[in-house]
Amino acid sequence: MTDPHTTQGRAIVLDRFGEADVMTLRAVQLAAPAPDEVQLKQTAIGFNFIDIYQRAGKYALPLPSGLGHEAAGVVQAIGAGVTDLGVGDRVIYINAGIGAYADRRNVQAAKLVRIPDDIDDEDAVAIFFKAMTAQYLVRKTFPVKQGDVVLVHAAAGGVGQVLSGWAKALGATVIGTAGSPEKCRIAKEAGCHHAVNYSEEGWVDRVIEASGGRKANVVYDSVGKHTFLGSLDCAAKFGMVVLFGAASGPVPDFDPELLNKKGCLFLTRPSVFPHNADTATFRANAAEVFKAMQDGVIDVSIASRVGLDHVADAHRLAESRKNAGAIVIVP
Ligand SMILES: NC(=O)c1ccc[n+]([C@@H]2O[C@H](COP(=O)([O-])OP(=O)(O)OC[C@H]3O[C@@H](n4cnc5c(N)ncnc54)[C@H](OP(=O)(O)O)[C@@H]3O)[C@@H](O)[C@H]2O)c1
Repeated sequence: MTDPHTTQGRAIVLDRFGEADVMTLRAVQLAAPAPDEVQLKQTAIGFNFIDIYQRAGKYALPLPSGLGHEAAGVVQAIGAGVTDLGVGDRVIYINAGIGAYADRRNVQAAKLVRIPDDIDDEDAVAIFFKAMTAQYLVRKTFPVKQGDVVLVHAAAGGVGQVLSGWAKALGATVIGTAGSPEKCRIAKEAGCHHAVNYSEEGWVDRVIEASGGRKANVVYDSVGKHTFLGSLDCAAKFGMVVLFGAASGPVPDFDPELLNKKGCLFLTRPSVFPHNADTATFRANAAEVFKAMQDGVIDVSIASRVGLDHVADAHRLAESRKNAGAIVIVP
């Protein structure tokens, strides 16, 4: 018998870690929103590379688990104590706990921000998590300024494209790396002044040449294993290496003395979640991202759309490295 106080929904459930086909779509019963929560009918779900690490068990999760960090939707019901959102509001989140791969969901109101009227849900989801990442990287971790040389690895990827365009808008000379000539072309379109194919031997020398011998004041490295030691060689004296992902695998163990030998470098390994933990900071950062979208600093390019019943295709596409740009999951 159906409980009149619950709503029927569908969600991706993970019972074990593994390849893309471990994700299964199941019917779920959703309770009415608890105090301080709202119930969302989700309209678009963001695919992000972290979903792959978590599905594969590289970033551990308690099982069984949902998957996904980002979605946009419309508020359907509000729980007690929610005063700043109402039924019908269009909202988005990136940090409301795992489980965004679903058509309906209860979410803490404090984790939501309204989507501006002139940005549609799919465009928002295509870019929001990635742009919120680029936002803290260029504004907080290493505040990029006029005249800096910035190296962005995987510059044709989702985060990479936003990061390159934003660093250019801040007045930096941007050098991007990517894994093929076609992706180098995309990196340039996204704002890189120079693009280097890091699948070819000698890419570190090519990056240093592109910088006119100055090397990079900051290296944004989300590739990890295949690029990390090269990143240390590309960084200028007293420069910063920002390791923020591991698309090719975790970096090798190394002696911190290497940072001294390579030029008294700074190394950090940040994450988007602590940068957006409290509601006021999250909403202020989001406002900056929406403004960058409205001003054209950030361009939205949706590379493909997949249904919730085909999320495995999104994961396989990203893992194949044939993708460039955002994949949107449509519930
Ligand atoms: N720390 C944070 O706050 C944070 C937040 C968001 C994302 N990230 C990280 O940022 C990176 C990009 O995320 P995204 O969502 O923009 O993903 P994406 O669009 O799929 O980009 C990933 C890129 O990594 C490159 N890559 C290199 N080696 C790879 C491999 N073995 N398998 C797959 N891709 C490989 C690919 O470019 P080429 O083919 O050109 O090499 C690809 O474009 C990920 O490492 C992610 O974990 C970190």
